[in-house]
Amino acid sequence: MTQERYDRPTLVLHWLTVALVLTLWSIAQLWDWLPRGSAPRHAAQALHVSLGLLFILVLAARLTWRATAGRRLAPPPGPRSLVLAARAMHGALYLLLIAMAISGPLNRSAGGDPLGFFGLFTLPPLLAKNKALAETINDVHGTIATIILILAGLHAAAALAHHYLWRDGVLARMLPGRAPRDGAAAVPLSPDGS
Ligand code: HEM
Ligand code: HEM
Repeated sequence: MTQERYDRPTLVLHWLTVALVLTLWSIAQLWDWLPRGSAPRHAAQALHVSLGLLFILVLAARLTWRATAGRRLAPPPGPRSLVLAARAMHGALYLLLIAMAISGPLNRSAGGDPLGFFGLFTLPPLLAKNKALAETINDVHGTIATIILILAGLHAAAALAHHYLWRDGVLARMLPGRAPRDGAAAVPLSPDGS
């Protein structure tokens, strides 16, 4: 039973990412129900872009924090194959999130629409308007979104299995709560610090 926890910024950034990914995906499902060219559909897409830019900030903060001061914990005891599978899953999720952060703004720019942030400012376009390219990028962006949801579902199921089946405290270390009872510092324990 592991007693270490991730530090607060890691927790906040993990759960903020989860909330933003689910909200961004839901907004994209919602506008499919709205008539093409209608004001509500445009508003939903503009909200998706504003929250998407926020998602990029959160992801950048998360990657920076993880690479510098963020606490890293050793994997729980268990078969090496499971440890490797968890590591591969986390790596794949990070790579796919980065792919969304790149394809989203390219999608918007190729569509010829503004990269606005809640009406506060607008970033310059990253590409010239190109409808055919926008369609291709949109397909890639949508496909990656689906893959993220499937992988995140498996990842969440694994976290719940740790909690309810193996009862090894892995889910608790990504949840807010008291500091470790024994006050033990949570330090990198694996040789490569991952
Ligand atoms: C993990 C984060 C994100 C998720 C889950 C997500 C999800 C989606 C989905 C499911 C679609 C619909 C794709 C389709 O039609 O097949 C979409 C479209 C789009 N997304 Fe995202 N997205 C994310 C991040 C972003 C970011 C960061 C931006 C830009 C800042 C962005 C901008 C767009 C744009 C411009 C469209 C196309 C809207 C249109 O049809 O005109 N997305 N997104
Ligand atoms: C969009 C959804 C999600 C994404 C993109 C995501 C992404 C990630 C990533 C990339 C890590 C690796 C952290 C690191 O080592 O830097 C992680 C860790 C973790 N996530 Fe998620 N996650 C999501 C949803 C969830 C959900 C719903 C749960 C709980 C039911 C969860 C529980 C955990 C736990 C417990 C860890 C720590 C695992 C460990 O210490 O080995 N995640 N998540």
